[in-house]
Amino acid sequence: MMKKVSNSKKDSTHLELVKLGKIFFKEKKFFDLYSKHKKISFEAIKDINLKIEKNTFVSIIGPSGCGKSTLLNLIAGLQSPTSGKIIIDGSAIKGPGPDRGVIFQNYALMPWLTTIQNIEFAINTVFPEKTKSDIKERAINYLRMVGLEKASNKFPKELSGGMKQRVAIARALSINPNMLLMDEPFGALDALTRSYLQEELLSIWRKNKVTVVLITHSIEEALLLSDKIILMSSGPSAIISEEISVDLGRPRDRQTIEQDPKYLKIKMRLEKHLLRETRAVEDVT
Ligand SMILES: Nc1ncnc2c1ncn2[C@@H]1O[C@H](COP(=O)(O)OP(=O)(O)O)[C@@H](O)[C@H]1O
Ligand SMILES: [Mg+2]
Repeated sequence: MMKKVSNSKKDSTHLELVKLGKIFFKEKKFFDLYSKHKKISFEAIKDINLKIEKNTFVSIIGPSGCGKSTLLNLIAGLQSPTSGKIIIDGSAIKGPGPDRGVIFQNYALMPWLTTIQNIEFAINTVFPEKTKSDIKERAINYLRMVGLEKASNKFPKELSGGMKQRVAIARALSINPNMLLMDEPFGALDALTRSYLQEELLSIWRKNKVTVVLITHSIEEALLLSDKIILMSSGPSAIISEEISVDLGRPRDRQTIEQDPKYLKIKMRLEKHLLRETRAVEDVT
């Protein structure tokens, strides 16, 4: 009992990364024997330390190729770290889990299943004890949540990009995760669909108790959505170079916040950072 009280502050941490590192090893091929560098390993990220509070909205931004997807895949448990630890709710993770819903840029829906079957499949994997009709009802509820009830019997190839991403969001939420991990989810969409889905994501985040980690290359998107923005340096051996708290009230109106001096100040800081780090990449290559 006493212990719990003294831990109460610690309890608000949802995710903690401790000295996290990832090195990719490449098999040495015959061809490589003649290469000048003979490089068979590549350190993508190095010594990443980070704490994310429960139910916060955090964005990760950094130059292309710096290791953002690698970091997200590690948190999702889809890849394993070379060094360091990923702690969720106080315990080190060992792989993927139903506590984390993952959403990718390319939607990753199963093309041979209909919209509703894609969601039912996910629910069945996490809640195998549920009856068929319970699973179906749950799937319909989540489709309704993203406004796609009518498309339930369509196949992914019959849907627009925005609709596919809404199915992916519904699927990720249908397993009732307390963390949503999103890798540039709106990157492939047109501007209008993108802002529509940003609003939808915000309202989902407000209604459900969920911590969001969003990878984005859009400064405006990060500023509109996040409580905190994490900046990554250019790779190889990318690190977290800055953490910026986005001290703007909510709800945020797109047009209004763009006039806010606080918004403009953070925006300039982010632009400077990205420009500097992108130059760093160009100098290396
Ligand atoms: N499976 C892999 N094997 C070897 N190198 C990889 C692998 N995955 C990613 N990388 C390298 O790690 C770096 C970071 O990649 P990634 O995390 O995809 O970057 P980002 O998402 O920031 O664009 C890149 O240089 C990429 O080529
Ligand atoms: Mg990526």
